[in-house]
Amino acid sequence: METGKQITGTLVVAVFTAALGSLQFGYSLGVINAPQKIIEKHYAMALGMWSERSELSVNGTKKNGSSETVKNPYVVMYWSLSVAIFSIGGMVSSFLVGFVGDLRGRVKGMLMVNILAIAAGLLMGLCKMWKPHIMVILGRAIMGFYCGLTSGLVPMYIGEIAPKAYRGALGTIHQLATVIGILISQIIGLDFILGNDEMWPLLLGLSGAPALLQSLLLPLCPESPRYLYILLGKEQEARRSLHRLKGACDLTLDLEEMKREKEEADREARVSFRSLIFSSVYRKQLFVALMMHLSQQLSGINAIFYYSTAIFSQAGVSQPIYATIGVGAINTIFTLLAVVLVDKAGRRSLTLIGLGGMCCCAVAMTVGLKFQNHFSWMSYVSMLAIFLFVSFFEIGPGPIPWFIVAELFSQGPRPAAIALAGCCNWTSNFIIGMAFPYIQAWLDCYVFILFAVLLFGFTVFIYLRVPETKGKSFEEIAAIFQKKRKTSTDNAELQQLKTSSDA
Ligand code: GLC
Repeated sequence: METGKQITGTLVVAVFTAALGSLQFGYSLGVINAPQKIIEKHYAMALGMWSERSELSVNGTKKNGSSETVKNPYVVMYWSLSVAIFSIGGMVSSFLVGFVGDLRGRVKGMLMVNILAIAAGLLMGLCKMWKPHIMVILGRAIMGFYCGLTSGLVPMYIGEIAPKAYRGALGTIHQLATVIGILISQIIGLDFILGNDEMWPLLLGLSGAPALLQSLLLPLCPESPRYLYILLGKEQEARRSLHRLKGACDLTLDLEEMKREKEEADREARVSFRSLIFSSVYRKQLFVALMMHLSQQLSGINAIFYYSTAIFSQAGVSQPIYATIGVGAINTIFTLLAVVLVDKAGRRSLTLIGLGGMCCCAVAMTVGLKFQNHFSWMSYVSMLAIFLFVSFFEIGPGPIPWFIVAELFSQGPRPAAIALAGCCNWTSNFIIGMAFPYIQAWLDCYVFILFAVLLFGFTVFIYLRVPETKGKSFEEIAAIFQKKRKTSTDNAELQQLKTSSDA
């Protein structure tokens, strides 16, 4: 049991400040969709491939006007690159999360990487000053690189400073800020706000704005006591940090818990990527961590986020852009519900309910798409199924993978594990983003059956393999996995890891 005041003003400020990084991640995920046609037009103009006829097709005033911008292979290529390079940036940088977090600490790490976000925002915001297609692609690459780092650093910091009883709720804040970022970008991306000819560079450039606010607030945030004590051995500083985070209360239990973690960490030494991947010691945790991230991405959630407007039009919805914003709003509401539920219902049950529910919705979407030409009300079935799909995602499979990795691993392998899981997330996100249009062309109205099958498989896996981590100390969680191992062989391997890292 923990003692004393649990949620202090400092803790709130620290979590809020860190979550500004997640807000930026969400904004960058969502911002590129709504203004696609406008941006393509400016790319075409910069490439000298723009004509009056293209104007008509972009504004949609003349249905049969030929769409030269869309057909032009260079514009298509530059556009696809602007979208995809973001995930490539994230894939590369997610490997560096452990390094950046350990270099000067979590707080300074987040502060340092803000330079990237601000540079990216400036490049995109000022893109009309030079070649917009080059400036935007550069900006998106740097922003993706930033987001790969921030989507690891934020959960790592929050996971380390959160009191045990609220670790799930505070861990879910990362996803909450992400979905709020997506929603904001969807709303201000409407054509009468910033998604228009004049303002689109500002729309993209604003993705750097939260970094400015975060840079002002980060110096007020205490460094992670776990980083200070377990990694650097600075007990006094860790104690001060804990005091600021927890208020004037008895810290004995927290310090004892950290001491035990440190002893464990000293025994197991820092774990490199190689040893994490190849050692049987961490195999079970790692498998669970990667499968949690794979289930998040291969659920097909981003097929909805990236292509919702197109999916809604296909399902016969007359104002698809507003339905898309509706998805963003539902997304936010259900993530809020997850914040409330996750420490009560537990990670495992919410993930199971979420994935199982999504599986049923994917089947319903398929039925809706298949029969929409026979019964007009089927479009409502599809729309309801999409809304429920997103709701089920946000009560478990959306937020939980982001923070459960920090819970599954002790201090030694934690940074490497977060980095690997993050890379797995970004890579599968990239693959779905690129492959979905092709899979859709291939499977047509049966496209969501593929996701239903995958979702079913993931639900079974979580049921069989994932333990509950709610309310357990990092030590207790590690013990669940250790119990499952054949101790003698693994202890020998653990010793070998330690010896090779000491040498
Ligand atoms: C999660 C996913 C991200 C997705 C978002 C939707 O954060 O990692 O890929 O777009 O949820 O809410």
